[in-house]
Amino acid sequence: MIRKYIYKYRILILDFGSQYTQLLARRIRKIGVYCEIFSWHASEKNIRAFQPNGIILSGGPESSTSANSPRAPQYIFNSGIPILGICYGMQIMAIQLGGKVENTNHREFGHAKIIVHSTNSLIESINDTFKKNKNFTLDVWMSHCDNVTEMPSDFIVIGSTEHCPIAIMINEKKHFYGVQFHPEVTHTHQGIKLLENFVKNICKCEMLWTSVNIIDDTIYKLREILGNDTVILGLSGGVDSLVTASLIHRAIGDRLKCVFVDNGLLRLNETKEIVNMFSCCLKFNVIHIKAEQLFLNALVKVYEPEEKRKIIGRIFVEIFEEEASKFNEVKWLAQGTIYPDIIESGISSMSQAHIIKSHHNVGGLPKEMKLRIVEPLKEFFKDEVRNIGVTLGLPHTALYRHPFPGPGLGVRILGEVKKEYCDLLRHADAILIEELHKNQLYNKVSQAFTVFLPIRSVSIMGDGRKYDWVIALRIIETTDFMTAKWANLTYEFLSNVSTRILNEVQGISRVVYDISNKPPATIEWE
Ligand code: XMP
Repeated sequence: MIRKYIYKYRILILDFGSQYTQLLARRIRKIGVYCEIFSWHASEKNIRAFQPNGIILSGGPESSTSANSPRAPQYIFNSGIPILGICYGMQIMAIQLGGKVENTNHREFGHAKIIVHSTNSLIESINDTFKKNKNFTLDVWMSHCDNVTEMPSDFIVIGSTEHCPIAIMINEKKHFYGVQFHPEVTHTHQGIKLLENFVKNICKCEMLWTSVNIIDDTIYKLREILGNDTVILGLSGGVDSLVTASLIHRAIGDRLKCVFVDNGLLRLNETKEIVNMFSCCLKFNVIHIKAEQLFLNALVKVYEPEEKRKIIGRIFVEIFEEEASKFNEVKWLAQGTIYPDIIESGISSMSQAHIIKSHHNVGGLPKEMKLRIVEPLKEFFKDEVRNIGVTLGLPHTALYRHPFPGPGLGVRILGEVKKEYCDLLRHADAILIEELHKNQLYNKVSQAFTVFLPIRSVSIMGDGRKYDWVIALRIIETTDFMTAKWANLTYEFLSNVSTRILNEVQGISRVVYDISNKPPATIEWE
């Protein structure tokens, strides 16, 4: 059975709310081992059922010295399973096993150098610099105020910094390891190697979680679930729906019916490009629905972002249902939902996240929906989806295109959506993207787009006074889209884009640059 094979080795991450937990999970999977994130208060029953080969206690925002701060289920320390505690995770491991943590009033944040006194299976064959007395150092990333001041019995300290005498502690016999720094961030130079040592040498996991195995397993599962049924899928042209379609197509061939809906809220020339790619290059059956008017009519005098998302999502589903009813054998609707969509929508059992925006491919389906949902990517992170796409031989430009939200320009035009605004926005957006490509910046930033602001401002063109609309440029850098920084591009680049938009897009009088980070500002404006 392929299914059991690929999930044979498993790491469990108990999440204490660190902003790096997803990154940690992605690192473990990239090493080649399946892992899942459970909330710190997961029940013993659920942890036992998961049968982890190793457990990682994540960092967290709370102070472990506070009596009410979260603790790991005590049972794990008697389970015989190897445990790695990171930052907050190391501190509660110390406390729960009889040691002590104190607030030392010395915040250590950023780069630190750890002096390693002796080697062991966790830090075997990793070092950044040797010193004369044979101690070596590691360059790491720290973020903490509390320190372990007393280790539990049978632990030894093997690494310290100036302000943190117990920076690495271990009990090799019981396979308990604690590191005060964050191995999952790239600033910790040997962090990945350290995680690899834990997963491979200590937990004895084999590297079965590879794109080739994932593809085999997913196709196997899809064939099992779908049997001889027919599936309908809404293509957006984005990487998620592209990879979903390709996997299902491999599993059931032409019993996959792809519907592409032109909702009038797409980017310049997007419809042509998507239909071409699917029909000509990939040889899929694509049903092309022209529904611009339907969507725009439904959005007249609708100003509220959540309401717009819901309307757009509802019409998509209605169109699918109508198309599906034309093939009376269609029983399934396929969606390109990925793991972070589920986490951010607060649906996952492990997530404590509040619902920030209702992503329409997760939360917007009506209860009376007649089709059953199949979501082959819902276990995967974006980088895994891309790797699957590369292994499937899908076009690089489509796989590495910036993400585009399901509701499209509908959430990039603030307030009421009108065709005139869509056309202006499409044109401005195409200029920004063209300039990014020309300057080799497209792949350096994570997402770039323009936003239409329905306010007018005065400009002078030639001798004439104009009173036209405003465009905002949103360009960000991120690894996970949960947090993001505005991209610090050169004035020259921004100035060039602004000049082109003002000169070439009739109806725009002003261009502004959005310098808001997420949090607090979300990436999309609505
Ligand atoms: P926010 O605005 O929540 O965006 O910071 C995070 C990422 O998600 C994309 N996004 C969406 N994708 N349906 C989608 O498929 C949606 O409704 C949606 N809303 C936002 C956004 O473009 C960014 O990459």
